[in-house]
Amino acid sequence: MANPLDVFRDDALAGHVAVITGGGTGICKGIAAAYARLGCEVCITSRKQDVIDATAAELRAATGKDVLAVAADVRDPDAVARVIEAARARFGKIDTLVNGAAGNFLAPAAALSPNAFRTVVDIDLIGSFHAARAAFPSLRDAGDGLIVNVTATLHYHGTPLQLHASAAKAGVDAMTRNLAVEWGGAGIRVVSIAPGPIGDTEGMRRLAPGDAAARAAKAIPLGRFGLIDEIAAAAVYLRSAAAAYITGTVLVVDGGHCVAQPMMMTP
Ligand code: HXC
Repeated sequence: MANPLDVFRDDALAGHVAVITGGGTGICKGIAAAYARLGCEVCITSRKQDVIDATAAELRAATGKDVLAVAADVRDPDAVARVIEAARARFGKIDTLVNGAAGNFLAPAAALSPNAFRTVVDIDLIGSFHAARAAFPSLRDAGDGLIVNVTATLHYHGTPLQLHASAAKAGVDAMTRNLAVEWGGAGIRVVSIAPGPIGDTEGMRRLAPGDAAARAAKAIPLGRFGLIDEIAAAAVYLRSAAAAYITGTVLVVDGGHCVAQPMMMTP
């Protein structure tokens, strides 16, 4: 299978500057790698400095770009603001924010502690708000700002063991619509990408352990898990001029899974 990123020109994202939360691992590391490969300046953030330092070194070696790594917990608005400031200081502007930092685990609703529910909502939903709020002046000043919120398809149905994440991701999709309306006049587009089951990710290791992964793959109309680069390609497309009229919506990238059935991940 051809690499989905090969269809883009080598300098497709030259001149852009992106801050990517959760960019140290998984899907958002893939987005960071794709953006850097195609000429975008990239700043990645996550809680663990050693993890993002290793990713930044890997991406620098692969792309030759000056990838910045600044640690922050998205639950801390001041720390997130410092990341935005650092990226703007290094690269002169920010025109793209990818909200990818997320936390999740399988747990029955009746057994979720208040703190467990709150923790996931704090990371996924409120953390995305903190980053969007902190980035707003930079995105507005850039003239062609973009926020990509990485959500999910969990909340399209009632998904067992996923009340906390479903509520959080539904909130993020609501934020996508609201900010698209409020900030469209400031030249900022806001779009969700909703990945389905993507192979080689922490999310799938947590949500579909053991043979649940093979059973889940059979339920996907395209018959396989997605690739991280297939989500990255969607994020590249949204950043490109080809998507200049797209805002306030959700781009589902799931091989048809959510139209076939709920995102059941019961082990
Ligand atoms: C029930 C759990 C739990 C579990 C944690 N908690 N794990 N409850 N079942 N398996 C509870 C804890 O007991 C605690 O509540 C509260 O959650 C906070 O836990 P902490 O460990 O103190 O929080 P923290 O260290 O901040 O860790 C956050 C985390 C953790 C979300 C709980 O798992 C994490 O850091 N995850 C990051 C990586 C990750 O999850 N990646 C996958 C993202 S996939 P009490 O009451 O005891 O204090 C994804 C995709 C979604 O988001 C869509 C997929 C289709």
